Amino acid sequence: MGRVAADSAAAFAGLCTSMGVRLGLYEAMAGAGPLTSEELAERTGLVERYVREWLAAQVAGAYVLHDAATGTYHLPAEHAAVLADRTAPTCMAGAFTMLGPLYETESALSEAYRTGAGVGWQAHGPDLYEGVAAFFRPGYDSMLVREWLPALDGVLDKLERGASVADVGCGFGHSTLLMAQAFPNSRFSGFDFHTPSVYAARRAAQEQGLSDRVTFDLAAADDFPQGPYDLITFFDCLHDLGDPVAALRRAEHALAEDGSCMVVEPNTSADPAGLVNPIGRSFASVSAALCLPGALAQNGPHALGNHAGEEAMRRIAEEAGLTGWKLAAETLTNRIYDVRR
Ligand SMILES: C[S@@+](CC[C@H](N)C(=O)[O-])C[C@H]1O[C@@H](n2cnc3c(N)ncnc32)[C@H](O)[C@@H]1O
Repeated sequence: MGRVAADSAAAFAGLCTSMGVRLGLYEAMAGAGPLTSEELAERTGLVERYVREWLAAQVAGAYVLHDAATGTYHLPAEHAAVLADRTAPTCMAGAFTMLGPLYETESALSEAYRTGAGVGWQAHGPDLYEGVAAFFRPGYDSMLVREWLPALDGVLDKLERGASVADVGCGFGHSTLLMAQAFPNSRFSGFDFHTPSVYAARRAAQEQGLSDRVTFDLAAADDFPQGPYDLITFFDCLHDLGDPVAALRRAEHALAEDGSCMVVEPNTSADPAGLVNPIGRSFASVSAALCLPGALAQNGPHALGNHAGEEAMRRIAEEAGLTGWKLAAETLTNRIYDVRR
């Protein structure tokens, strides 16, 4: 009962956390030292009475510290790194942006659980896609260029000299743009079947001045343009596809002679017993509500969920003619595979 009570408190509190992110409350508190509710309301342009109530909820969750003597509230630096600073590798704000649209799918999802139908990736509210992109971004920011790409055999040299790269299921394109920033001699093509995500990615490319070497286009994972590509990446999306074999088969055809694929997947256990920790629980819960229903909506031969495990992924690659398989890198949340012919 204690466990469930704590979880229900966290589930109620999640809405306030999401609003704190959306309304810039955490950002306004970061580095500001102790503030009164009046000062925070002034900084954020919000109504003091609401801000005071929000602060009480934050104090109740120990996200914010309260000094009754001075009537001030303080967001410690280490809390700001998780809640306020979107550039910090520790930032977890994106998870909360996903919650509203996820909870909203409960009716459609319940019906799908009865009928076996899917709930398509496109069926959610716009905050879901923004939240997913924000959720994955800090990990990519801190690891992709510095750790993951160097862990792939021979890829860094090619990218530095000038390579052609396809980023399949690119979403908002953060991964594509990070690579494009780091390797100015290479060209990058991001593909996704979700129109609003492709538009968001194009806007980000323009804002970052990268449109000369990055393009974003609508394309299904099993039907993206031919290439040849020196590197084809799948960031946290292969398990979302109804037919991951077809997508990897397409990649196999589109790879240059000695090209390779980078497959980034959640670092989760295929054995439910291995999911009994906060990361495993988060991924498993998102799988039951988003990844599996999304894949089922694509009517493909596979609906993997996000914790199918390395063996299942390797077999799928083999079926697509990609028999070279190596675990290249690993973080608490992700496993990075180097996959080739
Ligand atoms: C969990 S998101 C990951 C997005 C992005 N790669 C990232 O890491 O932020 C999964 C992505 O796969 C895309 N997707 C799902 N099924 C697809 C398909 N059949 N063809 C192309 N894209 C697909 C979705 O639109 C979504 O952008």
